[in-house]
Amino acid sequence: MDDDGVAHGFTSVDAQARPSAWVGVLERLSAEPFYAAYKQRLRELLRAAPGGLFLEVGAGTGEAAAALRSRDGAEVVAVDSSLTMAGRARERGLPCAVADGHQLPFPAARFDGVWADRVLQHVAEPARVLAELLRVVRPGGRVALADPDYGTQVLDIGDEELARRVLGFRADVALRNGTLAHRHAGMLAAHGLRDITVEARTLVVRDPSAVDRVMGLRTWAHTAASRGRLDPVDADRFTDRFDDAVRTGRFTYAVTFFLTAGTLPPPD
Ligand SMILES: C[S@@+](CC[C@H](N)C(=O)[O-])C[C@H]1O[C@@H](n2cnc3c(N)ncnc32)[C@H](O)[C@@H]1O
Repeated sequence: MDDDGVAHGFTSVDAQARPSAWVGVLERLSAEPFYAAYKQRLRELLRAAPGGLFLEVGAGTGEAAAALRSRDGAEVVAVDSSLTMAGRARERGLPCAVADGHQLPFPAARFDGVWADRVLQHVAEPARVLAELLRVVRPGGRVALADPDYGTQVLDIGDEELARRVLGFRADVALRNGTLAHRHAGMLAAHGLRDITVEARTLVVRDPSAVDRVMGLRTWAHTAASRGRLDPVDADRFTDRFDDAVRTGRFTYAVTFFLTAGTLPPPD
């Protein structure tokens, strides 16, 4: 299992061998302090107020959407392309449509704000999904995006060259849009958004046992090898180096998440 989807698990949760396992991945991650903190900040960036109507696209289990509703008193609607995820979100009492972010089933200017958290990295056409997000927000409304940018990764396992190759696979092959997040602000600017802010949060992993059931860092080299992107001998060497680095206390992995928000221009 892997946080954001070996074999693009999160591009098609319902097609995976055990879709419910992906629900567990999201629930474990959102309980991690790093994730809980950035997700709370992302919700703040929406500037939700009681009576407002907000949309989360790619809402997963609906945990964040439910939190926005209960803490800020806003009405929240969720959308996810996975029936499994939507089912979990509905168990929380959230209205959740099974729909594709490329074509949202809502009229224009319907919401006071919209957000997508760790979703654009997975979609086929991120520019189209962003255009849809913006279409359904009213003038003066808010949009907030979050994603890790795998172009920012570093890993110390005592072999920089091998680490870079495996991290490169993660950034450029394993994810559709693994290095897009630092360009979210530019995408919003191109749509004429105002008041654009970018905040960076770096996830630092020193003890992979704490996150590896969900991030699967240790498995990335073997995934690369299984896809013909790395020699299996190098994949074994990566795992050996990884374990050695953990044992000797040298292991350090980091990746930066970008939280980007903006305001749609008010009506003329
Ligand atoms: C990494 S999960 C993040 C879920 C949630 N936002 C969170 O932060 O916990 C990505 C979610 O996006 C959904 N997803 C992927 N592609 C989508 C698309 N084209 N339209 C809508 N949802 C999509 C997946 O089913 C999954 O629930």
